[in-house]
Amino acid sequence: MNAPLDIDFGLGRIRPWVRSDRDALVRHANSPNVARYTSTRFPHPYTCEAADAWFDFLEGQDDPEAYAIEVDGEAMGGIGIRRGENEYAHSGELGYWLGEAAWGRGIATAAVRAFVPAMMARWNLLRLNAFVVTGNVASCRVLEKAGFVLEGVQKAKAIRGGRVQDHAMYGLVDSSRLPLR
Ligand SMILES: CC(C)(COP(=O)(O)OP(=O)(O)OC[C@H]1O[C@@H](n2cnc3c(N)ncnc32)[C@H](O)[C@@H]1OP(=O)(O)O)[C@@H](O)C(=O)NCCC(=O)NCCS
Repeated sequence: MNAPLDIDFGLGRIRPWVRSDRDALVRHANSPNVARYTSTRFPHPYTCEAADAWFDFLEGQDDPEAYAIEVDGEAMGGIGIRRGENEYAHSGELGYWLGEAAWGRGIATAAVRAFVPAMMARWNLLRLNAFVVTGNVASCRVLEKAGFVLEGVQKAKAIRGGRVQDHAMYGLVDSSRLPLR
């Protein structure tokens, strides 16, 4: 089995979630500004029960798909990859968030730059997808600075709070892992 991922990326650390992160998780995640552009799989309001359900989910995985982003000694955000299955097992979908106290310091960019190659090597992934609501300029920039390419825009992909959302589709392919065709 793989050893748990633990990466010092300079501005912080990516390491496994632990139950003692509960208070920090709820404090940073429970914000409408954080939830605004995440999928509704990210609960809002973010309660202690939601945090416990999250830890239960991760503890059920042999090799967890999501990690805490620790900044200034506390878990201030999260990052993970939902891995594909069967013929999609070579790819995954990247997601991340940070509490507002950590915004605007280059932390998400640095975390994504560190996490992506580590997880692609760990799981032997050839491709990552990331989907961003088009108004989420900061997240689009994070992906672009981490080497993701805008592959298209899915118009009217979701309706949330009565508002139609377009979703930008980003992709990153590690061509060094491409099998010979
Ligand atoms: C998106 C998010 C992760 C960005 O985190 P961050 O650490 O503040 O991002 P960075 O500091 O690395 O900044 C990345 C880029 O976005 C820009 N940026 C940051 N906040 C911005 C804003 N509000 N509007 C426009 N651009 C912004 C930065 O200037 C930087 O670009 P630059 O280098 O060209 O100047 C954070 O805002 C967040 O968690 N938001 C809520 C959850 C979310 O949207 N998750 C992603 C879902 S796809």
